[in-house]
Amino acid sequence: MPKIKEIKAREILDSRGNPTIETKITLDNDILGIASVPSGASLGKYEALELRDADMNRYFGLGVLKAVGNVNQVIGPKLLGFDPTKQQEIDRLMIDLDGTENKSKLGANSLLSVSLAVASAASKSQKLPLYRYLNSLYGETLPTTIEKMPTPTFNIINGGKHGAGNLDFQEFHVVPATTKPYHEALRIGEEIYQKLKEVLIHRNAIRSVGDEGGFAPNLFTNLDTLEIILEAVKLTPHVFGRDVFLGLDIAASNFKKADGYQIKDKPNSLSANEFIEYLINLNKEYQLLILEDPLDEDDWEDWARLTQLLGKGTLIVGDDLLATNLLRLKQAIDKRLCTTILIKPNQAGTLSETLEVVKTARAGGFKVIVSHRSGETNDTFIADFAVAVGSDYVKFGAPARGERVAKYNRLLEIEEELNLK
Ligand code: PGA
Ligand code: ZN
Repeated sequence: MPKIKEIKAREILDSRGNPTIETKITLDNDILGIASVPSGASLGKYEALELRDADMNRYFGLGVLKAVGNVNQVIGPKLLGFDPTKQQEIDRLMIDLDGTENKSKLGANSLLSVSLAVASAASKSQKLPLYRYLNSLYGETLPTTIEKMPTPTFNIINGGKHGAGNLDFQEFHVVPATTKPYHEALRIGEEIYQKLKEVLIHRNAIRSVGDEGGFAPNLFTNLDTLEIILEAVKLTPHVFGRDVFLGLDIAASNFKKADGYQIKDKPNSLSANEFIEYLINLNKEYQLLILEDPLDEDDWEDWARLTQLLGKGTLIVGDDLLATNLLRLKQAIDKRLCTTILIKPNQAGTLSETLEVVKTARAGGFKVIVSHRSGETNDTFIADFAVAVGSDYVKFGAPARGERVAKYNRLLEIEEELNLK
């Protein structure tokens, strides 16, 4: 069995132009595993810690040289000679080395870059496609042909912390019907995206794109935005309510203030009850298939009430609420706070913990959406990961911008390899 010979991390840039960490692992048979980690802008309070230098002389404090040093000087030397297929053992060792609840000593970014690079090296060493190797770590066996690829959900308008600053809701999605083969779902998303561009030009709205590749118009209320998306859908052959549906990441923690939920569609702040009422009416009008972080991450009773009211027909998704955190997920399952988990490996900090969270979610009857971050690299690990764990959906942004498209294209490659076309 090959062993880890060298671990080397360095600082690179992510899609927002901010520093992030990339780690290369070389085995003694000269096989190379490489991984880089993404970074969020609308961070959930309960995520594992992303270690930044806070040295204002470099990258305005956002450098990651401390995280790089932690890999090269603290973690790396301890892992030399390890068998890279011992993923759990390696992740456990790193978690123990860190020793904190939220990975604040060594940084979740340093741990994750090593964790993913180890898996990448192990899969290559076993001559397996990454999705197959990850599937074996997940503890299940993919049949030689799997029935279903994950369904993509496309963030085609970016608001909140990812947009031009005027839209309260963070993400406006179109979601192709789950019955569509992956390559067709991708085409549906892309064709709507192109028509949306035309509609925005026609209305003389700004059509520059936001962090996740969706347009970032600065003219509309949340409701106007949904109407404009439907207008774009009508310009395609795809039928709303049959071929394609709508989804929202409200990211409500970002605009909830002490006196309630403040949105531009309403003159006054809304209480939790009023905001729930507003969301129910929104759903009546627009048949939302996906509703992510509809309420503040700490308002659990409100979440439970909303899930009871809307959870049958709409996926109520916990992102900031759950933060890919096992403990929070268990509580959410217990209290029926939501029906679906958003999986972001860098919220957890290691591959093994992320796999454990997916397994627990499945056992609790939850649906799964594997997600990118708003700051990404061209690493396509999460595309393989999504196939490996049989994720219901993937959320990789708009069908535009290289770092988003890289992941959608990797899924095309896997679909072809698995002969699902
Ligand atoms: P983030 O946004 O990566 O900036 O956290 C993505 C999301 O909220 O789903
Ligand atoms: Zn979110």
